[in-house]
Amino acid sequence: MITVSETEELRDKLSEWRSAGDHVALIPTMGNLHAGHLSLIDLAREHAEKIVVSIFVNPTQFGESEDFDGYPQTLDRDKRRLTRSGVDILFVPSVSTLYPFGVDNATSVIVPGLSDEFCGEFRPGHFAGVSSVVTRLFGLVQPDVAVFGQKDYQQQLIIRRMTEDLSFPIRIVTGETVREKDGLALSSRNQYLTEEERATAPVIFKVLNSIGESLQSGKRNYDELQEEASKALADAGLTPDYVSIRRAENLAEPDRDCDELVVFVAATLGKARLIDNIVVSV
Ligand code: PAJ
Repeated sequence: MITVSETEELRDKLSEWRSAGDHVALIPTMGNLHAGHLSLIDLAREHAEKIVVSIFVNPTQFGESEDFDGYPQTLDRDKRRLTRSGVDILFVPSVSTLYPFGVDNATSVIVPGLSDEFCGEFRPGHFAGVSSVVTRLFGLVQPDVAVFGQKDYQQQLIIRRMTEDLSFPIRIVTGETVREKDGLALSSRNQYLTEEERATAPVIFKVLNSIGESLQSGKRNYDELQEEASKALADAGLTPDYVSIRRAENLAEPDRDCDELVVFVAATLGKARLIDNIVVSV
């Protein structure tokens, strides 16, 4: 694996690959890699001969009171993991490579509607930061395929919509959520949890599954299911931002006949804001 931080070196390597007829997959990350990130590499390999992973803690997607400064950075360990996973290029751009006119003068890409609700409501500007940085990475790497995790369900829907709307010739692939044995979705933010909070956190996946079972048994009283789940989370000591049941394809309000639903949750536990979701076919 080679580590590249400059655009020119990246472009040289990519054009070498393209002339050899290789396809390129990109996996954007903010580093502090865990088995969830690594699973996306395995998935990428099914779609492309060459794999680029980017690590960039993107300032524009963090709100002022959020954890940008304290976001865990473990570059040496990440490099070892990526080398073992057979990644071809680790792209670690500087802020000025990704934002040549500066963060404050940067062109912004906004996906309206989908970015406004749920995490978009609780983290204003967050998804504009995500769609803008992903557009920049797409422009620099020009991948054939880009891989994202279902763990960030709203994020991957926004990126799919943006890619289609802007006619980027990139196939978006979504990888399943990797979990701890007790069901907690892997996340860099899990390390903010105390031991006691860590023992509580799997309640999120339990609550999601219990809604999933209710939906599969034919229940369609969405509001009631959402409220019960919020209460269960609050009783366990979490502060839920939302528990919501929506259409899996576009997060619209489901009617009774909808057959693919996503149940998704965001809740704070101690210092960590945790998100998770399941897709339920009914
Ligand atoms: P980050 O949180 O580092 O996540 C990078 C990718 O890993 C995302 O596509 C995310 O959905 C996926 N991922 C995270 N946890 C996962 C898990 N437990 N199982 C499977 N996949 C998982 O998401 C971001 O970074 C940023 O917003 C980014 C897209 C890089 C833009 O800055």
